[in-house]
Amino acid sequence: MKNIAVIGTGYVGLVASAGLAELGNDVTGVDIDAKRINALNDGRIPIYEPGLEAIIENYRSTARIRFTTDAALAISEADIVYIAVGTPSLGDGSADLSAVRAAAATIATNANRAKVVVLKSTVPVGTAESIGDFLRLRSERHLPVVSNPEFLREGHAVQDFLSPDKIVLGTSDDWAREMMLEVYRPLVERGVRIVTCTNETAELCKYVNNAFLATKVAFINEIADLCNAVRADVAVISEALGLDKRISPAFLNPGPGFGGSCFPKDLRALAYVGRAANVPLRLVEEVLEENRQHMMQVAGTLERMLGGLSGRTVGLLGLAFKADTDDVRESPAIAIATELVRRGARVRAFDPRASENASVILRDTVAYCGDEYQAAEDADALVIATEWDRFRTLDLNRIRQLMKGTHLYDTRNLYAPDAVRQAGLTYLGMGRSDFAVIPRKIAMGATS
Ligand code: UDX
Repeated sequence: MKNIAVIGTGYVGLVASAGLAELGNDVTGVDIDAKRINALNDGRIPIYEPGLEAIIENYRSTARIRFTTDAALAISEADIVYIAVGTPSLGDGSADLSAVRAAAATIATNANRAKVVVLKSTVPVGTAESIGDFLRLRSERHLPVVSNPEFLREGHAVQDFLSPDKIVLGTSDDWAREMMLEVYRPLVERGVRIVTCTNETAELCKYVNNAFLATKVAFINEIADLCNAVRADVAVISEALGLDKRISPAFLNPGPGFGGSCFPKDLRALAYVGRAANVPLRLVEEVLEENRQHMMQVAGTLERMLGGLSGRTVGLLGLAFKADTDDVRESPAIAIATELVRRGARVRAFDPRASENASVILRDTVAYCGDEYQAAEDADALVIATEWDRFRTLDLNRIRQLMKGTHLYDTRNLYAPDAVRQAGLTYLGMGRSDFAVIPRKIAMGATS
């Protein structure tokens, strides 16, 4: 059992705090935001993540998790200090490290003995080394830095923390590595593999992991667009691809584009590192561009199908970037709403969790509805943008009656096209629809 301070009570910090407590440690969550700390101490969890609230409440009642703004006390008591603050994108794609630097300065000021400093935040290659240099300059204590990137998925974060596919530990300090192996021992005993390496390798590993997954999504999205044009079925292609053991079926579901707090930001940061190192990462840059264009084509396709969007009403189901989260950061649904509005459509949106967060971005450019049927009222088209479970079982006959038009654009391929057609609706899917078709002409062109 270790005493651990976690600096930052955002998404990663809270999940790490809950997970580290579950592994048997005493955890203190630290934040400079007093409002946030007060809310946490009142039992209010500022983000929606399945299972998180229950676990934090459970450990808060036994004082195994505490929350405070008193960084000095939390750090002085801790054996290990996790840095889990945000690293948002700057204009040029690089990561903003000011919060990481501020956390390091607080650690240097308050370290009363040797402590392991764990970098959980996603940071560019070289950050651990420069934070290590900074700590040596500012403190006489032994404060080795371990790069321990997280691979949590929103919506499954607690489960991912406690049953990860792997744990990556990057450090050149033997004592720090041993301390971290002790923290994660319960997981190792359950068979979780630990990858030990240098700080630089661990830092790059996180970006590369996300870049590879994002590439899979962008690849299948691009193929989906082609499927639409040549009347092929991307769902079958995905299935066949996934059966090839070298490829694996995960992350081959086409959708409106990837979003969230990690993929877009991390790919931009990786592309930036490539440019800075004079090794331009052409594939990564192209994945970002494919994703941007793919998100735009939803509104473009609807405009073609409806013969213009000006004055049309479009119902939008989903605002979160994926299901089971209230996170709308870089959400394709938000991009779709924005583009529809830009092209003159009236948008009626519904999301079971994310409307409040979305309204900060979209403000009053869209109407926020109480449920999916309200969003469908008088709509010329209805777009499913997020794969919430409840959108899989819509009463399609009722939807048809409420709508003015007939187009259902299922960007997550939740429905069997025939079931939608039977309800009298026109089905548009992601790589499974039959519009703009000239396959024979292409084939003949190729042979002539
Ligand atoms: C991701 C990584 O999975 C995680 O390891 C990392 O730590 C943080 O970034 P998250 O952002 O929560 O996690 O989302 P994830 O479930 O990975 O999905 C990313 C995006 O890809 C979403 O927009 C999702 O809708 C999209 N996606 C994913 C698809 O469109 N198709 C798929 O098959 C899978």
